[in-house]
Amino acid sequence: MIQNDIERILVSEEEIAARCVELAHALETHYKDEKEPVLIVGLLRGSVPFMAELMKRFSFPCEIDFMSVSSYSGSKSTGDVKINKDMDVSCENRPVLIVEDIVDTGRTLKAVKHLFFHRGAKDVKIVSLLDKPDRRVVDIEADYVGFTIPNEFVVGYGLDYDQKYRNLPYIGVLKREIYE
Ligand code: IMP
Repeated sequence: MIQNDIERILVSEEEIAARCVELAHALETHYKDEKEPVLIVGLLRGSVPFMAELMKRFSFPCEIDFMSVSSYSGSKSTGDVKINKDMDVSCENRPVLIVEDIVDTGRTLKAVKHLFFHRGAKDVKIVSLLDKPDRRVVDIEADYVGFTIPNEFVVGYGLDYDQKYRNLPYIGVLKREIYE
């Protein structure tokens, strides 16, 4: 059972659902005067459960699309992003809401935000389920954050270790012996 690999639950299913209601309210306020449908872009694959939970609370018009990216670190510039799967629709002149599972070093989001502005999006907002501020190496913050968490490796609700545990309905801390 995958549940046996979890040391403790950090954020429960109920807490996530309740926080999504609050985040959706805040986003409703931001988009209340928006005339065009908001393009919601989920970063694959970790954002999928969060995006599904969040967007069912929206009453503003929206469209969804997905992107899969990886950021370069090390010797490469932090502005570079490798697109593994691109979006199907154009974001030019459109309001874009990027949905992410977790902001860790911040490299991915910084690169993706830059990419959307470069492609002519008129407004770019970021909502992330989790934020690990202690790990940040580049200057970027999500506009909306579900939960700020300590520097621990977490899985569940979309987040994986070696592609496993994404289906857990909560955010849990993985037992160290699993990844060490
Ligand atoms: P960043 O570019 O370092 O901010 O990377 C963010 C990505 O790293 C996330 O989208 C996750 O896929 C992954 N990640 C960071 N921390 C964790 C974690 O604690 N558990 C699972 N994945 C993580």
